[in-house]
Amino acid sequence: VELGPRSYEVHVEAGCLPRLGEAAKRAVRAHKIAIITDDVVGPLYAAAVECALREAAFETAVLSFPAGEAFKNIATVNTLWEGCLQFGMDRSSAVAALGGGVVGDVAGFVAATLLRGVDLVQVPTTLLADVDSSVGGKTGIDHPLGKNLIGAFHQPRLVWIDPQALRTLDPRDVRSGIAEVIKYAIIRDPYLFEYLAVNRDAVVALDADAMEQIIGTSCQIKAEIVAADETEAGQRRILNYGHTIGHAIEALDYGRLRHGEAVSMGMVAAAQIACNMGLCDAELPRRQAELLAAYGLPVSLPGIDADAVIARMAHDKKAHGGKPRFVLPVAIGQVAVVEVVDEALVREAIKALM
Ligand SMILES: NC(=O)c1ccc[n+]([C@@H]2O[C@H](COP(=O)([O-])OP(=O)(O)OC[C@H]3O[C@@H](n4cnc5c(N)ncnc54)[C@H](O)[C@@H]3O)[C@@H](O)[C@H]2O)c1
Ligand SMILES: [Zn+2]
Repeated sequence: VELGPRSYEVHVEAGCLPRLGEAAKRAVRAHKIAIITDDVVGPLYAAAVECALREAAFETAVLSFPAGEAFKNIATVNTLWEGCLQFGMDRSSAVAALGGGVVGDVAGFVAATLLRGVDLVQVPTTLLADVDSSVGGKTGIDHPLGKNLIGAFHQPRLVWIDPQALRTLDPRDVRSGIAEVIKYAIIRDPYLFEYLAVNRDAVVALDADAMEQIIGTSCQIKAEIVAADETEAGQRRILNYGHTIGHAIEALDYGRLRHGEAVSMGMVAAAQIACNMGLCDAELPRRQAELLAAYGLPVSLPGIDADAVIARMAHDKKAHGGKPRFVLPVAIGQVAVVEVVDEALVREAIKALM
């Protein structure tokens, strides 16, 4: 990720976890590193990470909190601040985030705020964290009034991705992460789209080469977009493809959908809107739905209430203070940001999900 003096490496390699130590040594000036993780990932990978860091002469401590979005809050952060201070961290110490997007966001926020900011290393262990949350520097927690409302931009010094860690992940979480990979293909990369279509079995089997390929390509796309627009003033918005409607569907909580499943349906609806506006031909929504379905992602939602989704979108817009904006596909690998979309078209596309 090219950000001048704050540039950092995103390393993707199957089996790279035991070699984190040397890389961390190059990336941070710390002597002490607090490994922040959750109580599901910790028992699986914290020992290996500790061992790798100690081999490189770091002093380490493992700080763990209960897994899940419900713990992405200020109480958890407060406990972690305390743990870091008790570990004797100073301005030149570092935090390593070991886990999914929840750990990455929480540990990133701790690193952003502790002693006005310490170095951060991201060691993601879910596909969503590999391709999305670990890269780009967004950190934060939830507030009773809404998700992700409190936070800071704090870029990591290193992102160290071992796709082998996905072998212990719930397959439904893997599928959910694939939705974000398909998102990158639609917004930026027709070759990635083809690759996903042709190599579906290898990807589903978590084949090492296939995972390096799709995670590496996704991170490269995110890195380019973040480098061009670090704080989401412009171009970075295209990363929200499928998320305008997807977030609303997710918030309405139709049978505890995963984020990626809601985004899958959000992309289906967005492509339908684009098609109905004449921005793309009917082939695009068809091929996109085919690929999503091939990966076991939902492309319809019986019982969806279009009015509730639209009301929720208006609520989200208000909370984020923006104009109504849609990221719509023009071709596979290309999107346009459209400021105002006729509400009837939006309703029609949501109804089509039924
Ligand atoms: N900062 C960003 O730019 C950004 C971007 C997208 C999403 N997010 C955030 O990411 C979060 C979602 O992340 P997520 O989907 O990774 O959820 P998560 O972190 O809750 O992980 C899902 C579950 O999988 C477990 N897990 C993680 N890795 C595992 C592994 N290798 N083996 C077995 N179990 C494992 C976790 O303990 C958890 O129970 C949300 O809070 C969202 O707001 C942030
Ligand atoms: Zn997303």
